[in-house]
Formats: sequence, C-alpha cells, structure tokens
Amino acid sequence: MIIIRKVAELLDFVEHQKEQGNAIGLVPTMGALHAGHLSLVERAVSENPCVIASVFVNPTQFNNPTDLATYPRKEEDDFRLLAQAGVTAVFAPEVDEMYPGGPEAQPRHEFDLGTAAEVMEGKFRPGHFQGVAQVVSLLFRLCRPTRAYFGEKDFQQIAVIRNMIKTEGIDVDIVACPIKRADDGLALSSRNALLTPEQREVAPEIHKALEYSVGYAREHSVRATHDTVVERIDAVPHMKVEYFEIVDARTLLPVEEWEESPWIVGCITVYCGEVRLIDNITYKKEI
Ligand code: PAJ
Repeated sequence: MIIIRKVAELLDFVEHQKEQGNAIGLVPTMGALHAGHLSLVERAVSENPCVIASVFVNPTQFNNPTDLATYPRKEEDDFRLLAQAGVTAVFAPEVDEMYPGGPEAQPRHEFDLGTAAEVMEGKFRPGHFQGVAQVVSLLFRLCRPTRAYFGEKDFQQIAVIRNMIKTEGIDVDIVACPIKRADDGLALSSRNALLTPEQREVAPEIHKALEYSVGYAREHSVRATHDTVVERIDAVPHMKVEYFEIVDARTLLPVEEWEESPWIVGCITVYCGEVRLIDNITYKKEI
C-alpha cells in the first residue's frame, strides 16, 4: 500500500491507474478505523482492482469545535489496518493540502443538496452537509472513482451524496453498505471510543429500543412507535434523544402513516453524556 500525502501525487497515481484501465474504488473516511469502515474497504477490494481509502478529518463538516478537537486520531493503526485489508493507496492529506490557505480561504460554493439535507442532521448540525459535499465532491474529482463506498449508519449522508452527484454532474456508482454492530448491538463508530465505561454499557439500548420498536410498529401508529422509542431511551441514565424521525427512506421527510411509503426508516441521534451517537432501523422495505 502506498501512502499519499499530496494532491499532485494523488493525481499522478489516479492517472496511472486510469491508463492501466483499472476501475477505482474509493472509501472516504475520517480515520480512527473500526470494523464498520473495514467492511466498506473489504467490499471495495473485492469489487475493484484499485482501491483508494482516504483518511481526512474534514474540518468543514464539524459545526462544533470541541467535536473536531476531540475527534479520535490514530493514523498509524489506520494505515496498518488498510494495508492488511488490501487497499492500494491511502490518501491522508493535511488540511492545507485539501484547502490551500485554510478552509475559510475557499471560494464558497453552495451545493444544491435538496430537502434531504435540511431535515434531521441538516437541522441539528447547520452547514454539516455542505461540508460533507465539499470534501466528498473534491475527493471524487481528485480520485475519479468508478465506485464509492458509504455506510448506511449515516443513512442521510448517502441520500445527500446521491443528490450532490446528480446536481454536480459527477459520474460515480454509490455503493451503500450495511451497518456493522458490536456484539451487543451498538453501531460501531469512531466516537464510541469517547464513551466512559458506564456510558458504553448503556449505549446498546439505542439499538435495542429501535429493534423492539419494529415489532411494536406492527400494531401501533407511527406516532406511538416514535414516542415509545424516545421514552425508552430517555429513561436510560446518561442518554438523551436529540431527534428520532420516522421517514420515507428516499425523501427523508417524515411519514404519518405506515401506508404512506413502501420504504420507511427511523433515524435517531442520542447524546450519551457528551458523545453524539447516531443509528437507524428499517421498518418497511417493499421495493
Ligand atoms: P466516517 O465517520 O469516518 O465514516 C466513513 C464511512 O464509514 C462512512 O460512509 C460511514 O457511514 C461508514 N461507517 C461508519 N460506521 C459504520 C458502521 N458501523 N457500519 C458501516 N459503515 C460505517 O462519514 C464520514 O466519515 C465523513 O462524513 C466522510 C464521508 C468521510 C466525509 O468526510
């Protein structure tokens, strides 16, 4: 595996792969890799002769400076895991390499991300998806991937990126990969490392409540299902639901009746102490 730090070097690498006729699989990450990230990498390795993984903690998608400052960084471990998984190249640039002169010096381009970017994460993390679109579109332009791999843990992120490539006219296959969980059900996340032992012990309650609610939903309304999840999680020490929305999986707009859409998911964000955890569950997929 080669380690690329500079954009110029990345462009040469990509050009060389294209000349060889190699399809490129791209796995964008912010590092502190776990089995969730690696499941994307493994899928990419099985589907593309050349795989680029990026490791870049993108400052423009953080709306909370403490969150950015405390975001876990483990570059050496990340590179070892990526090499073991069979990645061809890792792109791990400094901030200045991605945003010359710093993020503020960049010309402001407002991405048209549709209504999917305005709800949930879009509402609670203003500017977050503009930052994600900025870095992901830049990575797409630099790496020219045939396929790019994203995890369904960030369900809304995938919908927003699909909208972004449409409006920006970028030709790439977006591959959505299932959520990887710890044995106790907690969705793997780099932020789990920030939980205290007491918080880590109760955190699986998020997935347990969501899973329970799938059975509950068969006999109850959308509203009652929503309320039961929020009440159950809020009753757990350390935990506070920021939002829980039961939405149409394509528009991400809330539904009021189970009959309203053939594909319905529940998306949740919970504060476990100071740590912001997200997860989701499918209630119905009939397409
Ligand atoms: P990051 O949080 O590092 O996640 C990188 C990719 O791994 C995302 O596509 C995310 O959905 C996926 N992922 C994380 N946890 C997962 C899990 N438990 N199961 C399956 N997939 C999982 O998402 C980002 O970084 C950034 O926003 C990024 C797209 C890299 C842009 O900066």
